Amino acid sequence: MGKYEDIFRRSITDPAGFWGEAAENIDWYKKWDRVLDDSRKPFYRWFTGGEMNTCYNAVDRHVENGRGGQVAVIYDSPVTNQIRKFTYSELKDHVSRFAGVLKGFGVSKGDTVIIYMPMVPQAAIAMLACARLGAVHSVVFGGFAPHELAIRIDDAKPRVIVTASGAIEVKKIIEYSPLINKAIELAAHKPEKCIVLQRPFAKAQLLEGRDYDWEELMAKAEAADCVPVKATDPLYILYTSGTTGKPKGIVRDNGGHAVALRWSMEHVYDVKPGDVYWSASDVGWVVGHSYIVYGPLMTGCTTVMYEGKPVGTPDPGAFWRVISEHGVKTLFTAPTAFRAIKRDDPLGEYIKKYDLSGFRYLFLAGERLDPDTYHWASRLLNRPVIDHWWQTETGWPITANCMGIEAFPVRPGSSTKPVPGYDVQVLEANGKVLGPNVEGLVAIKLPLPPGTLPTLWQADDRYLESYVNVLPDYYFTSDSGYKDEDGYVFIMGRVDDVINVAGHRLSTGEMEEIVATHPDVAECAVFGVEDALKGQVPICLVVLKSGAQRQEAEIKQDLVKLIREEIGPIANFKEACVVARLPKTRSGKILRGTMRKIANGKEFTMPSTIDDTAILEDIEEALKRIGYAKKPHQ
Ligand code: COA
Ligand code: AMP
Repeated sequence: MGKYEDIFRRSITDPAGFWGEAAENIDWYKKWDRVLDDSRKPFYRWFTGGEMNTCYNAVDRHVENGRGGQVAVIYDSPVTNQIRKFTYSELKDHVSRFAGVLKGFGVSKGDTVIIYMPMVPQAAIAMLACARLGAVHSVVFGGFAPHELAIRIDDAKPRVIVTASGAIEVKKIIEYSPLINKAIELAAHKPEKCIVLQRPFAKAQLLEGRDYDWEELMAKAEAADCVPVKATDPLYILYTSGTTGKPKGIVRDNGGHAVALRWSMEHVYDVKPGDVYWSASDVGWVVGHSYIVYGPLMTGCTTVMYEGKPVGTPDPGAFWRVISEHGVKTLFTAPTAFRAIKRDDPLGEYIKKYDLSGFRYLFLAGERLDPDTYHWASRLLNRPVIDHWWQTETGWPITANCMGIEAFPVRPGSSTKPVPGYDVQVLEANGKVLGPNVEGLVAIKLPLPPGTLPTLWQADDRYLESYVNVLPDYYFTSDSGYKDEDGYVFIMGRVDDVINVAGHRLSTGEMEEIVATHPDVAECAVFGVEDALKGQVPICLVVLKSGAQRQEAEIKQDLVKLIREEIGPIANFKEACVVARLPKTRSGKILRGTMRKIANGKEFTMPSTIDDTAILEDIEEALKRIGYAKKPHQ
């Protein structure tokens, strides 16, 4: 029996023993009473009775243990042309002073703080400062529009918002203060204070009494110390798209999260203290939380914060430049980033310009890794290219080829095997476990391992409804897939209204809610279609109200603008067309799956519920007008 098999089996048959041992790598003020607390099933809790502080584990303990002079964070910003390094001692100084600033504004244990910032080190400093005080941060991705930020403000009810005056998207300057002002205007909850990091290319006008300059506050701040929190206390809320316009507030606790991330760094990513680890993502996403900030820092690694893109800042050699310049051992990013590099540098000419001798692994996640991109990357890099599957909800990988345990041969299209702690099963809708090579609903037998969501923010019922009631005793992932005869897991895609656009998780249900607000729209359907670069992009079909006068081109323009204003540019909502009717079942359910197949030029069988085939011909014609449905259906 292999090493993986032994470790995996123990994690499932003796989770308390397994994770209790892993918890020895975390420093505790008080050890736990119970490793796995199942007294309130299906709400499982980890390390109940334990007390610790996440910031202490990520920062202070490394200074105390002799790593003070080691670089903790490398900020590499091709868009502002600067590189800045923070040792663990310097990081401690910044974090403890910013914690002092927050404390001065009345932030204490249990209070919430929203962080809306680009990829600057101050974003990580703000997150760690919240953790230091036991405050709960909620980072909102900078590509979200004010409406999305307002929804999160109203749900999290922050005392303080930490932001910056702007960001640079390749070359375009994005001013943040109009966005923040608009979001606060839209929100019912009004945060008391905003702390603004002024950036030289976009000076913000500060609002007297509400806005404060980061640097001015830091210049006179007094350091605040770590506050012990319960292992089960929340560390952060991260909102992610569900099937409606109301995002889900994923809660992460302190203790289980620290234990799981610390364990995953060595066992999944084969990373040791002192190694340089780079996650080319954004702090606004879960990858950024887990593997830009908390995972690498809790392990005593050097983490890279990159404010740039895979291409265009300045060229498709950007990733190779960062890897060679900073001695990166492990890179983690989304397949879409590699598709962008492949598009601009198909022969990999830029790779040859850099010394990549220290580079060991490429990990990819966030969307399905298509075999083409896998083969391209592994051929040119000549190193393990590891697809691994996870979700905002789990916070760390569910399936992976665990490089720190045992490397399995890769099977393209598969994210390999369940990570220890995750009992992954493929089920029928009635809960029956399916055999090998049969596609079904992918679910994880409860309890989930530490570090995964204990619930949704102030919404236990929604947690049960979304994840637990669907398949009792299991966590339902909303993905479909299958396992082959050797236990390799193949994730095929979402079964709900969530799509993945350039590695960004978005809700088509929410887009439909917004489109439906247009005065001329009677009904609509938004669904994801395949895209060579971004994996998926949304397209929209609308039926107009009778008497609506506007032309298709005008409607499309309106809708594109509307989604950009309400969700943000990252929705990549660029196509909409008008149809006479939408195909539906007799009970009135819109047949989005059939339309998706038509749009993607895939074969489909005529749904038995459709009496009039002309509806689908009309849909096909409309989709052809916007460049889809290229192959005729059968
Ligand atoms: N703030 C403001 N705007 C943003 C933004 C941010 N943080 N991120 C993206 N946008 C904007 C872009 O500027 C673009 O605007 P435009 O429509 O005015 O041109 C729009 O949102 C769409 O962005 P995106 O889908 O990212 O496309 P792109 O062409 O700019 O870049 C990639 C394509 C593949 C290079 C880019 O999507 C990428 O690097 N993706 C990786 C994502 C990732 O790391 N995901 C995390 C999971 S690991
Ligand atoms: P997010 O919460 O943004 O991380 O998105 C989670 C969703 O992205 C999952 O439910 C999957 O649909 C998809 N996903 C993430 N990683 C992978 C992967 N390696 N393979 C296939 N799908 C993935």
